[in-house]
Amino acid sequence: MKRFLKINKKINSFRKTINVEGDKSLSIRWVLISLLSEKKSVAYNLLMSEDVINALNCVKALGAKVKFYKNRCEIIGIGMKINIQNRLTLNAGNSGTLGRLILGILINTNKKIKIIGDKSLSKRDFSRITKPLIKFGAKFNSKKNLPLEIVGLKSPRSINYTEIKGSAQCKSTVMLAALKSEGTTIIKAKKSRDHTELMFKFLKIPISIKKSNNKFDFIKVKGVKKIEPLKYRIPGDISSSAFFIVLTILSENSQLLLKDININPSRVGIVKILKLMGAKIKLLNIRFYKGERISDIFVKSSKNLTAINCPTKYNSNAIDEFLVIFLIAARSKGVSIFKNLSELNQKESPRLKWASKILNSMGVKNITTNSSIKIYGNPNLVVKKNIIIRNFSKDHRVFMMSVIAALTFGGKWKINDLDSMKTSFPKFLDILNKLSPKT
Ligand code: S3P
Repeated sequence: MKRFLKINKKINSFRKTINVEGDKSLSIRWVLISLLSEKKSVAYNLLMSEDVINALNCVKALGAKVKFYKNRCEIIGIGMKINIQNRLTLNAGNSGTLGRLILGILINTNKKIKIIGDKSLSKRDFSRITKPLIKFGAKFNSKKNLPLEIVGLKSPRSINYTEIKGSAQCKSTVMLAALKSEGTTIIKAKKSRDHTELMFKFLKIPISIKKSNNKFDFIKVKGVKKIEPLKYRIPGDISSSAFFIVLTILSENSQLLLKDININPSRVGIVKILKLMGAKIKLLNIRFYKGERISDIFVKSSKNLTAINCPTKYNSNAIDEFLVIFLIAARSKGVSIFKNLSELNQKESPRLKWASKILNSMGVKNITTNSSIKIYGNPNLVVKKNIIIRNFSKDHRVFMMSVIAALTFGGKWKINDLDSMKTSFPKFLDILNKLSPKT
């Protein structure tokens, strides 16, 4: 049965301190990298969302031992080799990060492994990673979509690879396959989140990274025979924080302190973009943890928001946050323009299309192409209509964007597929209730 949420009024003002759940990118990476060590890896504050639970189930199926003690998760992995007895099927659920990165790890599988996913993941493009993995020597039955089967090889050969989409998933998949290969893999990658690089560095894996001022980073990864276990305390997810940051900016007389959030420069595009638009947002108590940058984020209701011609250099740094950034544009004075965003239509749902649909239903004029959106903002917009949001491929971020729109612009909303939030942010509604119990 479809569970839905009805929202009939805006949120009351609030002044609160919250913690959001652990970072999804770091949680999935920690689980997958822990599989590669034979010793015990430990994580605190691992995100317990469906994407991460699917990652845990995949590594268990491959032979890892997983244990929980309250907020602490331990994984004893299988090392660099894969020796399974029978053919396996691994379910990546809704997660592109899991489905793609795990294929990098399976480059040396001794048996055929099938990867399946849900309806949304089965529509997404896998040729972006099967192409480089074929260069390493892997064989696939289908090159483009799930379900697909991989046959690995004992000694994959290192490759030269150029990544041009700004996709951390592609870059990380190749880096993981490189770890299992003979020799050195050389990667030229358009800038994207660098969590895999930082974890590799911390584990003293032979990696060299040259960050250039232009669009590309140059990375070399050498194959290794074993890796050390990874102890990690997962900070809060900026992509989950984004919903509450925008909620606060668009609400009356409100302020919010979000504690211990990962503000890795490759993820913090949203803060830069919102500041340019006039939002009151500050990073406090900045510190470093295993190469990652962490801070508290203080945000206040902001009036006089202004439109932006969004610099495309922020695109990959804010890729998961654009849906809610578009809500800020809807409240801003002037016409905002966001370009070169075709990757947004490659996500759990075609998100540019969904942003456009939701803005249309709110009465916000927008002109949307396959790669750009122009939003005609209106600082005085009040929505009074009945709005139903459904058939959005259960995209967790479309669900949460719709909730934030309903709570800040008004109108009577019925938003379907409430369970979709469990993909990345199971406590989303609990935290909302804590902010404003009567909403
Ligand atoms: C992710 C990378 C991004 C992002 C996704 C998580 C990651 O995808 O949209 O939610 O953890 O590497 P792409 O790398 O495909 O842009």
